[in-house]
Amino acid sequence: MRKILTLSLLVFFTSVQPGLADDAPTAEALERGKAIAFTRAKGNCLACHLIQGGELAGNYGPPLLLMKTRFPDRADLRAQIWDASVREPTTRMPPYGRHRILTEDEIDLLVDFIHSL
Ligand code: HEC
Repeated sequence: MRKILTLSLLVFFTSVQPGLADDAPTAEALERGKAIAFTRAKGNCLACHLIQGGELAGNYGPPLLLMKTRFPDRADLRAQIWDASVREPTTRMPPYGRHRILTEDEIDLLVDFIHSL
């Protein structure tokens, strides 16, 4: 009985753990996303948004915190960053994807970081 229990636990953890790891961005990916958000020549998000860990943040846009509560679906957050004018036609937020300010890969890293806030 004990052996069966140990074995089934083993099977459970080896099958579930890799799945979890695949979904969560790595620490390295989050650092790269953060660099894109904070670098002036890239995202420059701090010009308008307060972001934890960022210096001299502006308050033209809403503070970026509790992002999973406001954007449970990562795709909605990506869409906002890709082209904010879809949701708010008169927005001053740059359309990072539509205007190719950032590459699709950079946007993915950025979205992972912002979604983690
Ligand atoms: C020029 C100012 C400006 C810059 C730069 C800017 N934003 Fe925005 N952002 C805004 C404004 C203003 C809003 C409010 C809604 C709107 O107008 O679209 C907003 C809204 C958002 C929202 C939606 C927040 C919510 O709760 O609805 C997200 C997410 C966001 N911005 C992310 C970013 C990220 C990430 C960057 C950097 C890549 C960035 N923004 C750069 C001005 C800016």
